[in-house]
Amino acid sequence: MLSAKSAEVVEATLPVVGAAIGDITPRFYDRMFTAHPELLRDLFNRGNQANGTQRQALAGSIATFATALIAHPDQRPDAMLARIAHKHVSVGISNDQYRIVHEHLFAAIVDVLGEAVTPEVAAAWDEVYWLMANALIAIEDRLRAESAAGGDPADLWRPYTVIARYQETDNVTTFLVRPADGGPVPAFRPGQYVSVRTELADGARQIRQYSLSGGADGALRFSVKREDGGEVSTHLHRHLHTGDRIDLAPPLGDVALADGDGPVLLASAGIGNTPMTAMLDHLAATGSTCQVISVHGDRDQLSHAFRADLAQLTAKLPNATAHVFYERPLGEWPAERTGLVDLSTVDVPAGTTAYLCGPLPFMRAVREQLLAAGVPAADIHYEVFGPDLWLA
Ligand SMILES: Cc1cc2nc3c(=O)[nH]c(=O)nc-3n(C[C@H](O)[C@H](O)[C@H](O)COP(=O)(O)OP(=O)(O)OC[C@H]3O[C@@H](n4cnc5c(N)ncnc54)[C@H](O)[C@@H]3O)c2cc1C
Ligand code: HEM
Repeated sequence: MLSAKSAEVVEATLPVVGAAIGDITPRFYDRMFTAHPELLRDLFNRGNQANGTQRQALAGSIATFATALIAHPDQRPDAMLARIAHKHVSVGISNDQYRIVHEHLFAAIVDVLGEAVTPEVAAAWDEVYWLMANALIAIEDRLRAESAAGGDPADLWRPYTVIARYQETDNVTTFLVRPADGGPVPAFRPGQYVSVRTELADGARQIRQYSLSGGADGALRFSVKREDGGEVSTHLHRHLHTGDRIDLAPPLGDVALADGDGPVLLASAGIGNTPMTAMLDHLAATGSTCQVISVHGDRDQLSHAFRADLAQLTAKLPNATAHVFYERPLGEWPAERTGLVDLSTVDVPAGTTAYLCGPLPFMRAVREQLLAAGVPAADIHYEVFGPDLWLA
């Protein structure tokens, strides 16, 4: 809880800090990566640094946290913290690194705001930082203890062997992997992701997340869309073959299919259907009788990965329907299913829990449609395939 004195100072300076945050975050990362180049090479996603999305997510999360502290001094925005903590544990950050971030973030604040940062202002924001950092550290410690990540981030990575790879579409490849030590695969909840660490041509060991698209018989399955100009996805498509080794962190992620027998709506676009495929797979494998509504949008039939899985899994479930929308369908296709996903043609029953994954504009549109259909905001969960810019 923020002290009353600091709350007053933070509230008074929030507009100034908020207005300058776009200058503070680049300066913070530049300083930190100059002092610790290994963090940019082997820990942070340098694609997200280059395109600025991680900077925006960091700025957004701090602003959201400070605003929430002022509005509700006795509450923590736990949903936001959970997402960050899962990501932190999944890439292997350690508690002592919070001091490094603190040092460079506060130096950047002073660089940008100069004399406006009086000792009183610095102390108040220091309190905000450590409230947030200590909340994250506590959640991350608990997550490490409860998951297969283990207590020490240094032991996070485990080598896996690729036992099969196959093309889903022209630019989506599925990899089936098994622990190289012959041990059991870690448990996962449908919807969770693994971090994959790969050494690139320049020696950098870059990390990316891939949602599990399923897993059975002692193997995990993930599916990668090749991004034009993307470092890791193109590397995996070109160089990761059956028999090769790859380092994986254990499954993590706060967006996962909840237990229960109420109606479930799974809405995805493009490669956003990887977590949905794992969810459907799980529902079918456990003989679920709940009402399941799958909604998917894609460019056309050929770009639609897991098209056959969607049909087969839907057929296995006694109470499931699939609604597929193509922007440019090939051949005969119903006119009302041509174009972007439109829930006005889909009956959304009361009590539905919805899971969304796809590009942000898609998720914003679907969320609006679900809210209009009467689904409470608390029952709409979403996964973002990058830093969460809804925070920003
Ligand atoms: C929780 C989660 C789950 C995910 N699940 C999946 C999944 O199941 N399947 C899947 O395919 N992906 C998934 N992703 C996305 C995946 O992690 C990668 O982000 C994706 O594969 C692209 O990585 P890359 O290294 O190929 O691209 P990067 O090299 O990281 O590039 C990413 C983007 O940044 C742009 N960029 C790079 N450099 C610059 C620059 N200098 N200036 C401007 N822009 C630049 C690129 O053009 C590209 O659009 C998931 C992500 C998250 C966070
Ligand atoms: C209070 C301090 C911190 C805050 C507020 C914070 C905030 C964030 C946020 C918002 C994200 C994006 C989460 C998402 O949407 O996926 C993130 C990711 C990340 N954070 Fe932190 N973080 C903090 C401390 C740290 C520390 C100490 C490190 C280690 C040096 C670190 C390393 C990372 C890395 C490597 C990622 C993933 C980056 C990427 O994929 O682009 N963070 N953090």
